[in-house]
Amino acid sequence: MENTLLANGRRIAYYSTGDSRQPVPLVLLHGFCEDSSLWDPVLPGLQVFRILRIDLPGFGASDPPLTPGMDSYVDAVCVVLNELNIPTCILYGHSMGGYVALEFARQHAERLAGLSLIHSHPFADSPDRIEARRKGIELLQHGKKDLYVAQLFPGLFAPAFARQHPDIVEAMVQKGRQGPEAGIIAALTGMIERRDQQDTLAQCACPVQFVLGALDGIIPLEQAMSATPYPAISDVRVFSEIGHMAMFEAPELLMQAVSEFGRYCLRRLEARSSNKTQTSPPG
Ligand code: MLT
Repeated sequence: MENTLLANGRRIAYYSTGDSRQPVPLVLLHGFCEDSSLWDPVLPGLQVFRILRIDLPGFGASDPPLTPGMDSYVDAVCVVLNELNIPTCILYGHSMGGYVALEFARQHAERLAGLSLIHSHPFADSPDRIEARRKGIELLQHGKKDLYVAQLFPGLFAPAFARQHPDIVEAMVQKGRQGPEAGIIAALTGMIERRDQQDTLAQCACPVQFVLGALDGIIPLEQAMSATPYPAISDVRVFSEIGHMAMFEAPELLMQAVSEFGRYCLRRLEARSSNKTQTSPPG
């Protein structure tokens, strides 16, 4: 069910499913030009958890941010968590959602029991990437949103998958087109300006998961792999034959990765809090 909050007069939409009695939810953040429905293919296997999905500002049913930048997205996540009185969560981010999750980890490390980067990485944009994003902004400013979005999605899937499932690619294009230009431009600007988060990863006290596709054309495997030794605890999963969209290309594998990591982080949190209780001085 869709829930809506207002922050600074802007709507933030989120969706709550699974076991609502669980105090520590799995929070799922979609990527660029997507919305919370991105996670639909993996939701059935996650119902034992409490799941929150948030439409990042400018996508789905959330209004565009007042100012572009990862901060606005992090603020939206905090607004939802605060509204629901949730101090701690396990945060999963797909691609741009991973950039948001990393910025959340930098600002609110104490609220994280786990961080999962799904087809994402901690590196800032290369000059080529910035140039491509600027060209995209120009297209959007010239009213070419449909063209821009149509070019975006086919390259996100492994070529064989895109050939075999044109319906899935087309559904993503149709959904991507529904978002306002302002939201897409804000996201492109935010990604251009985002900081390098290698330090954030290296300082992460919580476990970090990396889910990578060997055929990902957006997040090169070798570059992403180079970041996997940074955190003290890493769970690395590389899916062969998969591009940037495991939720469609390999939903069973992704469901398993999300749920195993979630279980591990929850068990770790429980063990830590019972140790604390046992060792804390009486009174
Ligand atoms: C995404 O899927 O969120 C974006 O393609 C990420 C990016 O462009 O860096």
